[in-house]
Amino acid sequence: MCGIIGYIGKRQAAPIIFDGLKRLEYRGYDSAGMAIFDGSNGVQIKKDIGLVDDINKRLNFLSMQGNIGIGHTRWATHGGVTQTNAHPHISNNKKILVIHNGIVENYQELLTMLKENGFTFYSETDTEIIPNLIEFEMRKGKDFEHAAIDAIKQFDGYCAVLAMFEGERKIVAARNGSPLVVGVGNGENFIASDIPAFLEHTKNVIYIHDSDFVVLDSNRVKFFNLEDGKEVGRPLHSIDWDIEQAKKGNFDHFMMKEISEQVQTVKSAANQDKEILFEIADEMKKAKGVFLVACGSSYHACLTASYLFSKITKLHINVVLGSEFSNYENFLTPGTLVIAVSQSGETIDVLDAVKTARQKGSKVMSLVNVVGSSLHRNSDRALMLNAGPEICVLSTKTYTAQLTVLALLAYTIAGKYDEGKKNLEYLWNIIYNLTAANTRKYLMKLAEELKDKNHIFTIGRGLQFPTSLEAALKIKEVSYIHAEGFSGGELKHGTIALIEQGTPCIVFSSKENEKEIISNAMEIKARGGYIIGIDSKKNKDVFDFFIKVPDVGDLNPIIQIIPIQILSYQLAVLRGCDPDKPRNLAKSVTVK
Ligand code: G6P
Repeated sequence: MCGIIGYIGKRQAAPIIFDGLKRLEYRGYDSAGMAIFDGSNGVQIKKDIGLVDDINKRLNFLSMQGNIGIGHTRWATHGGVTQTNAHPHISNNKKILVIHNGIVENYQELLTMLKENGFTFYSETDTEIIPNLIEFEMRKGKDFEHAAIDAIKQFDGYCAVLAMFEGERKIVAARNGSPLVVGVGNGENFIASDIPAFLEHTKNVIYIHDSDFVVLDSNRVKFFNLEDGKEVGRPLHSIDWDIEQAKKGNFDHFMMKEISEQVQTVKSAANQDKEILFEIADEMKKAKGVFLVACGSSYHACLTASYLFSKITKLHINVVLGSEFSNYENFLTPGTLVIAVSQSGETIDVLDAVKTARQKGSKVMSLVNVVGSSLHRNSDRALMLNAGPEICVLSTKTYTAQLTVLALLAYTIAGKYDEGKKNLEYLWNIIYNLTAANTRKYLMKLAEELKDKNHIFTIGRGLQFPTSLEAALKIKEVSYIHAEGFSGGELKHGTIALIEQGTPCIVFSSKENEKEIISNAMEIKARGGYIIGIDSKKNKDVFDFFIKVPDVGDLNPIIQIIPIQILSYQLAVLRGCDPDKPRNLAKSVTVK
């Protein structure tokens, strides 16, 4: 949460920081700000509440002159959404500027100490502590770099911090648990929460580790260990993401672009590193207990996998939410295998679960989309989702990529890798049709019918139960229509009381459980429900609206969700919601 970016070089910093902020907005977007330094005339700061583009219209970020700069887009944790609380924050002497992602947990104690030493505070944020703590350390006679190290060492909690000092042409940074990566340019350097922020300028990156302190000037990047102050080496990587993947192209929104990309991304996800795939499959067979751990949509992918593993390989796995994982620590031993599934590889609850597993000596493997992310680096083995950057806050293409890799893993464990690959290849044409313009036009009719509804229910059985949960999540998080997903048999244990004349219910049906799920649909229809059937054939007596999706057996979850991703997008657009940046959400949840 919160996006941070810094630039130091020969070019004007403002346009670079501004574009970078727009690419980081998916991380938080309640307010934004920039500080630019031209090396001589003092630091200029502009910040306000709202989206980066809207703030720019009011304050003209782009008019700021100078070639050192930092920028921040905020997802509020500490202090309300106000202009004053927006970052950057400045020290009492007006010389030290800081942007920050994370929480200073011992904020109260440090605040009291600084106040006792005469410091005053203008905001409600914990971040404002940091520039003042650096100033406090500088008053003791330390230079900026050493003062920053000593200040950062004093606060507890996950964070990524960038700081600059009016008198010096450098940016310093530190990381503890929150993402931060350096982009190495030619006579210029970048630092940001995520690679797309500077992808336009360089593909050469250095991943910052926890407890690293980094000093950037135009020509050099130095890494030190925060604890002992010793310089450390960090390797340079070249990444193969393309800037076009991080742009909207001909689409109005990233969400629709990313839904359409699934034709390609399911293919890339199925194209796995065979050696690692077989190794993980082997570890799963040998393990004394396998846990899948994830949050949000990734959790729904894991729930689906629990059915897939049971059906395809007869392997029992435990699926646990990242935030609940510590409750299971008594079951963890050195023989346990924990597989963490995450698009970003930065979700703090998942990283904490990994930490718990490590403490118990368990092996940790992962499925992750972002190369070099914390999870990727902290795993004994990792399978990449190969979905390219996902910018929309909602997970679409990475959800189906996760399902693809998990299905392939299940087939591999069962000794049916080739059959699995063939079955997955069969999906590509289907996905092409499901995302084509005529399907979108057809679904728009449904979106028009549903756009003013207050509730939408979704049901499925077996493999399609998690699909119903994911479908409800997609609808509610982007259109703000209340949606709830159930196992087909469960709705009648309470929630059926909410069914009135015309209440929409989306029913995921398949040959495997057609009889039972259609009976559940009938129960709803009998009480006035409006039944939207997703099936390979139309059940005329039950479906009021029919969405045809071929039946592909165990792989149904990969394709059946796609029409609902499109419907959710259309509902958002029709209701005037921003599909890429739903209110209150952030793509990467790096706070607990
Ligand atoms: C946030 C995002 C979701 C995502 C979840 C888990 O809530 O908005 O789309 O599913 O985090 O993220 P991860 O990166 O761990 O898959």
